[in-house]
Amino acid sequence: ATPVIVAIDGPAGTGKSSTSKAVAAQLGLSYLDTGAQYRAITWWMVNNGIDVDDPSAVAAAAGKPEIVSGTDPEGPTITVDGVDVAGPIRTQEVSSKVSAVSAVPEVRARITELQRSIAASAAQGIVVEGRDIGTTVLPDADLKIFLTASAEARAARRSGELQGADVQSTREALIKRDAADSSRKTSPLAKADDAVEVDTTELTLAQVIECVVTLVEEKR
Ligand code: C5P
Repeated sequence: ATPVIVAIDGPAGTGKSSTSKAVAAQLGLSYLDTGAQYRAITWWMVNNGIDVDDPSAVAAAAGKPEIVSGTDPEGPTITVDGVDVAGPIRTQEVSSKVSAVSAVPEVRARITELQRSIAASAAQGIVVEGRDIGTTVLPDADLKIFLTASAEARAARRSGELQGADVQSTREALIKRDAADSSRKTSPLAKADDAVEVDTTELTLAQVIECVVTLVEEKR
């Protein structure tokens, strides 16, 4: 089979990561979590004392960290300058700062280039999840999915993942992050014209996975 490229975009808490990993594993494809890359560069900025609210400081530093993603869906990895940051990139501090960093064009240019080269080298094909994959990173993807869900469903799923986080504050943080991601100038969160929209509010994870697997198989 020729390599198949699948782009899965959508806001936070729609089940993008769980769906993308499962689809890739089931179909023998590679998997790339592009949000983890933006989180990793944000983690590096914070650790190196860069003021994330100063776009010119962020732009000047954008080329410095070396970010490496492991693309096995059964155990994806992410390192910055050789350090495993899979845990530290999930903190609330990084979550609250990532939108500012990812809005900087120099950051996006750097990370987008990395994403394209990873996708191009996936022999069997790849599932790439993010916000601008179908619109900007891989506009020629074989299949584009846009996942949505109600704000309530997204917050409930996220607070289930984050121990001790209450639904209300999670909901507010998610809405704030989506608003920032959707309104930025450079490749905002958006549904590509040719993407298939799947509303996951009333679906189980298994149903979403089955739906996407079927759509990929139709393209193969
Ligand atoms: O997917 P996740 O919620 O981990 O993404 C973290 C953040 O990374 C997003 O809120 C967004 O600011 C940024 N991001 C992006 N473009 C992508 C993927 C993520 O700007 N393709």
